[in-house]
Amino acid sequence: MATKLKKQAGAKKNDGVVKVALLGFGTVGSSVAKVLTERKFAGIALTHVYNRNVARKRESAAAKFVPATAKWTENIDDVLRSDVDVIVELMGGLNPVEGWLKKALAAGKHVVTANKQLIAYRGVSLQKLAAQHGVQLVYGAAVAGGVPVIPGILQGLSGDRVTRLSGILNGTCNYILSRMEAGADYATVLKDAQQLGYAEANPSADVDGFDARAKLCILSRIALGAKLNPDEVATQTISTVEAIDFVYAKELNSTIRQVSRAQADGTVVHARVAPMLVPLTSPMAWSHGTQNMVVTSGTYGGDVVFSGHGAGGEPTAVAVVSDLLAVSQGAKAVELPVRKRTVTSEFLAPHYLRFVVDDKPGIVSSIAGALAKVGANIDSLLQKPGYPKHRLPFVVTTEPCLTGVIERAIGSIAKLDCMLEKPLNLQMLVPEDKPE
Ligand SMILES: NC(=O)c1ccc[n+]([C@@H]2O[C@H](COP(=O)([O-])OP(=O)(O)OC[C@H]3O[C@@H](n4cnc5c(N)ncnc54)[C@H](OP(=O)(O)O)[C@@H]3O)[C@@H](O)[C@H]2O)c1
Repeated sequence: MATKLKKQAGAKKNDGVVKVALLGFGTVGSSVAKVLTERKFAGIALTHVYNRNVARKRESAAAKFVPATAKWTENIDDVLRSDVDVIVELMGGLNPVEGWLKKALAAGKHVVTANKQLIAYRGVSLQKLAAQHGVQLVYGAAVAGGVPVIPGILQGLSGDRVTRLSGILNGTCNYILSRMEAGADYATVLKDAQQLGYAEANPSADVDGFDARAKLCILSRIALGAKLNPDEVATQTISTVEAIDFVYAKELNSTIRQVSRAQADGTVVHARVAPMLVPLTSPMAWSHGTQNMVVTSGTYGGDVVFSGHGAGGEPTAVAVVSDLLAVSQGAKAVELPVRKRTVTSEFLAPHYLRFVVDDKPGIVSSIAGALAKVGANIDSLLQKPGYPKHRLPFVVTTEPCLTGVIERAIGSIAKLDCMLEKPLNLQMLVPEDKPE
């Protein structure tokens, strides 16, 4: 017990120096080295840098930020068997990271990580292991990069009962959609995003919602106390949103953003990551480029908004180094109980349905009939002039209705001969939106 208390009081050893190892010297890892070197925090020493093919990293421009006394290595045992106090993991992915961090925690080393996949899938078990060994596992950079949403929720909102959260958790999607809002088309913007290094050659993790889903699960755990299996959270790609949708969204005083939302409802959590119509009056509509934003709603404190740079080496390094300072000074994150929750993707919301048709008489009545059959009421019909009749885009909005019900109607509407594309179905966010 005495050892445990001593460890929890901070990472500092008797010589007053906290020894730090970096696992991964990529975008964030090298920026962490830069921030540590430039800010010169007393009592923190970078002693090890681990990476594969480490010679390549030693020759990089960022290597000048690593102290000459630090050991560069591509043998993980050099780190795990050393006397470092804190391991800062910035490699990403589950394997081999999970196994290595388990060994590090079991050996009494604190861990700071920015790895959202690891924390979304293994956070609960790793946290338990850290507690068993009297050390800390902190991951403030795993969601929203440089925006202190995780420490903000843990330290600042634990006293409230947060019942729902929504946010823009993927900077790549926000860059793409906010450029489309200004008139560009999806393919052009995606190419630009890839050239600028915002999107991977295979952009699926971002545009199909998997990256944001991992982050939503982490936030649900700390804000709602709900343990969700990321694979059970529904996602919808942004790649089927077209320029015309922004024209119609504007008519509805809205824009389109990839929104991640979760809402506690007894033992069930409603959760979804999808492109949605966001009212122009919502803070989420004001977030442009690679910015991230999270809005939490609490019973006592009402709404709280976090926003800023969600990605990038240096903003993310700020979050990592802040975690490192907290651990080295013995600051302990608030912990509240977490319970396994069932996930549903159902939300009661108005929906935006966009069709592209070869115009013929009777189309609107067929669509209205299919919607009526599932009990969905049409709220408005929008048709911009100037489009050819053989390829006519138009929009139907519905009154609040469950997403699954609308999807059933869309299934039969998509089979109509006149449909040239799969209809697009987007939830419309409104302040009074409530799940059932
Ligand atoms: N970049 C951001 O804006 C951002 C924001 C928030 C969170 N994060 C998280 O931060 C972490 C690091 O991201 P990053 O953008 O810095 O990635 P990155 O640039 O790809 O850097 C990862 C580094 O780890 C090394 N590495 C990866 N797998 C390895 C393995 N199996 N063995 C040895 N070395 C390995 C890579 O070496 P190679 O050069 O040989 O590939 C690279 O140097 C990820 O978990 C990411 O999700 C990043």
